[in-house]
Amino acid sequence: MELKITCIPGDGIGPEIVAEAKKILDTVAEKYGHTMNYTDILMGGASIDAYGVPLTDEAIETARNADAVLMGSIGGNTSTSPWYKLPPNLRPEAGLLAIRKALNLFANLRPAVLYEELAGACPLKEEISAAGFDMMIMRELTGGLYFGERRTVEENGVMKAIDTLTYDENEIRRIAVKGFDIAMKRRKKVTSVDKANVLDSSRLWRKVVEEVAKDYPEVTLEHMLVDNCAMQLVRDPAQFDVILTENMFGDILSDEASMVTGSIGMLASASLNDSKFGLYEPSHGSAPDIAGQDIANPIATILSASMMLRYSFDLDKEADAIDAAVRQVLKDGYRTVDIMSEGCTRVGCRQMGDLLAERIR
Ligand code: IPM
Ligand code: MG
Repeated sequence: MELKITCIPGDGIGPEIVAEAKKILDTVAEKYGHTMNYTDILMGGASIDAYGVPLTDEAIETARNADAVLMGSIGGNTSTSPWYKLPPNLRPEAGLLAIRKALNLFANLRPAVLYEELAGACPLKEEISAAGFDMMIMRELTGGLYFGERRTVEENGVMKAIDTLTYDENEIRRIAVKGFDIAMKRRKKVTSVDKANVLDSSRLWRKVVEEVAKDYPEVTLEHMLVDNCAMQLVRDPAQFDVILTENMFGDILSDEASMVTGSIGMLASASLNDSKFGLYEPSHGSAPDIAGQDIANPIATILSASMMLRYSFDLDKEADAIDAAVRQVLKDGYRTVDIMSEGCTRVGCRQMGDLLAERIR
């Protein structure tokens, strides 16, 4: 296959981890007879520095014309970086929201897996972590509070800010269908998370999800209120297979789930539209404090590249080879500093990439 991939190295550790993901993709391409064509675009702080805006129209067009997008991370230190003195619509994160909306990436997949080799990093009690867990958070990504009308006004000398949470049934249906499709390839359970005891948008969410569920008789559907879900994630994470939820709840719950694994440097994500096109990025941020020191963990980005092969290109064998290399490298005792434990060998970002490439070859 010949693949056209747009890369967004971004800010902070982004360029280092994307370089290692390209190394792995090239290794896979060589072994399985594919050709990778990369085009880099700027987004976030890097784009602000070059063009004064976090994402240009040209960059969006380049991404649109690719087969898939691979991203590192964007943004800087919010209290010290000059990027955060800019108005909100010109800050690094605005670039990320703009590309999600422009490319219609409404389905965000965030796996949270407890790797056997890293079970010690899980902050939960051993009686809970012993069961292991492997869940997929399906977050709606282009609706809800993030994209509703917002404004700040002054009324009779009192400042007032308004954010609106809107979902129509079509927006809910398309993410629900994706959620159930993914559940069919997993353990066939969907937990739909909402706040239906308070919000109208959640009541509509629940109704539409129930309609969609009728087309998937093999999948077990349960509903859970978001506050309860936050508790259940630390009480019994093994109960979850697919968690299906709206944008804001998904933002918060996916951070919680990743923290519960204890190894956010290992977690990938995919943002898909209704065809096979997707943007793939690690779940972690740009870690500006450790940028340029060759100590970042590239595995989350490498696993994002694996998701890209699987979900955008149906290259399951190639994706399996990457996932197996990651497990093997952990078994062999190699660790970047964020997942280091006693008796293991500490390696840097580049060396981790090399070790993985060796195992794929
Ligand atoms: C994420 C991030 C973004 C979000 C920020 C950077 C706008 O937290 O991808 O989860 O809230 O969606
Ligand atoms: Mg977030």
